Amino acid sequence: MPASPLITVMTGAARKAARAVSRDFGEVENLQVSQKGPADFVTRADRKAEKVIVEELKKARPKWGFQLEEGGEIAGTDGQHVWVVDPIDGTTNFIHGIPHFAVSIGLTRNGEPVAGVIYNPITDELFAAERGGGAYLNDRRLRVSGRRDISDAVIACGIPHRGRGDHAEFRRELAQVQAKAAGIRRAGTASLDLAWVAAGRLDGYWERGLQPWDICAGIVMVREAGGFAADIDGGPDVMNTGDIMAGNEHMQSGLKACIKAARAGE
Ligand code: IPD
Repeated sequence: MPASPLITVMTGAARKAARAVSRDFGEVENLQVSQKGPADFVTRADRKAEKVIVEELKKARPKWGFQLEEGGEIAGTDGQHVWVVDPIDGTTNFIHGIPHFAVSIGLTRNGEPVAGVIYNPITDELFAAERGGGAYLNDRRLRVSGRRDISDAVIACGIPHRGRGDHAEFRRELAQVQAKAAGIRRAGTASLDLAWVAAGRLDGYWERGLQPWDICAGIVMVREAGGFAADIDGGPDVMNTGDIMAGNEHMQSGLKACIKAARAGE
């Protein structure tokens, strides 16, 4: 990507944090066999990575605020810009030694997502996007897939698990998509699901109950790759509802029809 100063700052922070995250992932693989499992260790890894990101971003833009998965909100003095950070998106994958997780850094300006960097340290894939500047995977410009029909499409989703979300609602929605799509995936890292939609690997994606740090960077990525990323039920503020639907423009109507049919109990 022709890196703007903003993207350079975000990329630098993501890569620096990812070095620690990768080292810790190696350790997690060893800890799998211990009885207690690696959960506490992972919490520490998460916090450590977040600290690196905050330090780097603060150094570059001292007046901007933060919305952090681990550390909560830190008010900035400029009142406009907020970094939205998930140091390890895909924590469950990480804990289980599954090499599919990412460092995700988004930026909002007056509440609107305007830039994002998503970095998978295992594959060394760095996704970056800035409003008006396009979306990139390493040096390659991204474009959402061109498939027009949901019957040819691979659609990703998030499955609510124990203690999370409305399981029956998910099953109704899944039944609809299942009957129409060519394939369904649940990879467990929302930021990468969105980055993969931007890269045209996935044609569409829907998931409910996400947090702003799971989706902020990915929303910019999909929109800058020519796709849509919006609230499932048509609400104006997907960052706050956390119920997201994304894809190329042709998937919008297909996915919407599935959700509508699920709601009608078809
Ligand atoms: C999780 C991942 C996952 C999604 C979960 C999120 P975390 O984020 O993005 O794909 O299904 O709902 O909580 O907790 O690993 O940062």
